[in-house]
Amino acid sequence: MKQHRGSWGSNMGFILAAIGSAVGLGNIWGFPYKMGKSGGFTFLVVYAILAIFVGFVVMATELAMGRKTGKGIVGAFCDLSQKFKWVGWLGVIAPFFLLCFYVVLGGYCLEYVVINITQLFGAEALSGSASFGAMVTNPIRCMVYTFIFTAINFFIVRGGIQGGIEKFSTVGMPALFVMLVVVIIRSLTLPNAIEGVKFMFVPGYAVSAGFISESPSFINILSTAGGQMFFSLSLAMGIMITYGSYLGKQENLLKNSGIIVFADTFVAIMAGLAVIPAAVSNGIANGVALSDIQLGGPNLLFVTLQDVFVSMGTMGSLFGVVFYVLVLIAAISSVISLIEVIATMFMDDAHAKNKEGNRQKIVMGICLAFFAVSLVVAADGLGSNGVWVPFQSMLTTVAADGTVSMPVFVDCWLDFLDCLAEGIAMPLGALLMSLMVGFELGPETILPELHTGTKFRMDKFYIICIKYVVPVAMVFILLGQLSSFFGFGWFA
Ligand code: PFF
Repeated sequence: MKQHRGSWGSNMGFILAAIGSAVGLGNIWGFPYKMGKSGGFTFLVVYAILAIFVGFVVMATELAMGRKTGKGIVGAFCDLSQKFKWVGWLGVIAPFFLLCFYVVLGGYCLEYVVINITQLFGAEALSGSASFGAMVTNPIRCMVYTFIFTAINFFIVRGGIQGGIEKFSTVGMPALFVMLVVVIIRSLTLPNAIEGVKFMFVPGYAVSAGFISESPSFINILSTAGGQMFFSLSLAMGIMITYGSYLGKQENLLKNSGIIVFADTFVAIMAGLAVIPAAVSNGIANGVALSDIQLGGPNLLFVTLQDVFVSMGTMGSLFGVVFYVLVLIAAISSVISLIEVIATMFMDDAHAKNKEGNRQKIVMGICLAFFAVSLVVAADGLGSNGVWVPFQSMLTTVAADGTVSMPVFVDCWLDFLDCLAEGIAMPLGALLMSLMVGFELGPETILPELHTGTKFRMDKFYIICIKYVVPVAMVFILLGQLSSFFGFGWFA
């Protein structure tokens, strides 16, 4: 039977889908806070250097592997390598774990859209912490929202590369951008917004103004920037291999990689300007000490910012709807890319057996599988409902003298799955991939693919980076991730 895998309708569609995958919750609740806390502009410079020497190179390699083999993650590794065949499987397991909790977070965003809509129509506005507390301690409602969020993603991916993912991205990403600009304008025009801007950009300001008590060490900054860069660019998850496998030979992979890396970083800074000044302004207006304003993680998104919207009355609810829809789009465009990695793998497998893979059934099977696990994460409510406790005690040992030791520094199901995916599988996968390309196959296997569609050459840069810079950086990032999840304190 003739293989018919489908392809992107246009290079622009591909770029928007890849940027959509990269732009996610990490850009909104991770990057701005880490940047502010870790030296502002200095952090940005470190991040940019890592993004160019490591992120860009890994992204180009993944796209090239996908386009060269015309296969998804498992097929690509099998075709290219003898020794590293099995690494592709790491790239299937990791997206699966990530999906299991990312959809719960997507469900939270959906619930906050609904909360703000009801407030717009006159429902009583609760404080951010009251809304958040009520949400996470209601497992059934969280499961329902997780289900709805999963269903939305199912319908998109079911439509295929061009008819589903590309279509959503070409409408969703520009819409996200416009909404972000609207929220930035509001955020920057609030009283004392400048304090938030200074927190984000001015080196040392976070400490001198009292947001944090001491600045992190340089090694800590490096490891924070590396981990964030990797997660934010959606690398080592098979996404760029998968998306690259649907790309035409005429497209310029180096240029595309550059655009994606730049756009992801640009949107992360924009997201920072949308959230941090508003959060700081509202904190100051309410007399909250700067060190007590929550500027990162779920607390930023679902407590601090909701308080900002509530404080603005009806207009605030309107901004709330716009903002949480924006976050929802960011979450959806990331989740669909993760599902597609697994779906493409099964479709390729069917093609290899000369069968026409049934996308509808495959996507349905994948969604049901991760949805089943996500129910546990939803029920756990970020640790609020005690679902994690029995597992926590399995990991905990109590010595004869009563000292309790806990080898894993995670305190809910979400953190545990994140530890497996972001902490171990992602950096390990990228390390092995760079060793495979740099040493087993040799960069000359990938270079011709990077030459296709362009006259531009950067071979020396690529060879040095993929052979030496990327592996060293990946070992460092892996150790950094392990130390934060397992509490070794190596990078304190
Ligand atoms: N890049 C996304 C974010 O910043 O939130 C998260 C993500 C999506 C990571 C897809 C990895 C991935 F494969």
